[in-house]
Amino acid sequence: MKEIGIYVHIPFCKRKCFYCDFCSFECDKNIHNDYTKALINEIRAFYLEENKTEDIVVKTLYFGGGTPSFIDENYIKRILNELKQKYKFAKDIEATIEINPGTATYEKIKKYKDIGFNRVSIGLQSTNDRLLKLIGRIHTYSEFEQTYKMARDVGFCNINVDLMIGLPTQTEEDVQASLEKIIEKNPEHISVYSLILEDGTKLKDLIDSGKLELPDEDVERKMYWLVKKKLENTGYEHYEISNFAKPGYESKHNTDCWKQKEYLAFGLAAHSYLNNVRYSNLSDLNKYIEDNLNNNNTRNVEEIQTDDIQMNEFVILGLRMIEGFSINVFKDKFNRDFREVYREQIDRLSKMKLIKFENDIVSLTDKGIDFANIVWSEFV
Ligand SMILES: C[S@@+](CC[C@H](N)C(=O)[O-])C[C@H]1O[C@@H](n2cnc3c(N)ncnc32)[C@H](O)[C@@H]1O
Ligand code: SF4
Repeated sequence: MKEIGIYVHIPFCKRKCFYCDFCSFECDKNIHNDYTKALINEIRAFYLEENKTEDIVVKTLYFGGGTPSFIDENYIKRILNELKQKYKFAKDIEATIEINPGTATYEKIKKYKDIGFNRVSIGLQSTNDRLLKLIGRIHTYSEFEQTYKMARDVGFCNINVDLMIGLPTQTEEDVQASLEKIIEKNPEHISVYSLILEDGTKLKDLIDSGKLELPDEDVERKMYWLVKKKLENTGYEHYEISNFAKPGYESKHNTDCWKQKEYLAFGLAAHSYLNNVRYSNLSDLNKYIEDNLNNNNTRNVEEIQTDDIQMNEFVILGLRMIEGFSINVFKDKFNRDFREVYREQIDRLSKMKLIKFENDIVSLTDKGIDFANIVWSEFV
């Protein structure tokens, strides 16, 4: 029996945030129905292919975007029903759906609970309305509060909230204020992402043209350590570079991805990982819909992983986890000695004090967290 995760991508947003380069679009709502049909066809096509070889049990399910809560809840239900018909879901499945403030009613969120989701992830970014507007969010903090309350009222007892740091004009005081307000609400999980200024985004243009300014790198790093200290002091465990959870509430779906477990992904631009092969779906919305409505499978083989690629990826993903990874597990998985394979990299990174060894565990030092890009560059 093979245990996997399933990811479903819903690429629609009410409006594109200024910093975002995820595969997501503002477009006519009429397209949602065709997209749902196409996605269901993709599930059917992929199922037939995979089912020839083995039994699969789904341990985690994640509906992400884009904004899954932007589309009608019946589309979500139809996709979920198709998956339930095709795959065996584990009894203790973790099933997450992303919800954006300003797109979800009480009825919608209740429907998610009724059809089997048991975790929601709410994108907030900041509690400061001025900052929310500045980065193109469609909602205020008060709308987030309503969404959060509705999620609790319908009975969700596993909620994640996304925050961002390093935003233009954001100060350490802003970050501190956001944290205090969110901690008071007591979500089980908090993700805190450092802004990545992506090419082609409106925010990049605003920064390049001097209309907005980003905080200095050292200020951004201070924000990060402020977040870490504050959340750790209030009962959250820092378990991955950008993720904090109450004990037992770490995201199983993401943790499995970081541990190089297998997952299937459906929808536009979705990436799957199965039998050491990475597959990618088309990222052209119209072509994705057309191909799948005509039952043309749109999955491309992106990468057939050699042992070297798998080992590099295992190390990079493993070091994202604050606890690091076990070099004995590395040995069991690859039949190679981590210290031998990566002797030169380990020498350089140890001299710079970016990684540390404790018994059979290797992990990033605090300095390594700040200079993670240097660490990753050693393993690509
Ligand atoms: C894939 S997005 C989808 C979530 C949802 N649509 C939303 O925006 O609320 C997940 C999270 O990634 C983060 N994110 C998106 N773009 C980012 C960027 N350029 N830099 C850092 N974090 C980003 C945001 O915190 C966002 O909530
Ligand atoms: S709502 Fe989320 S996915 Fe959509 S544009 Fe904003 S950050 Fe990107």
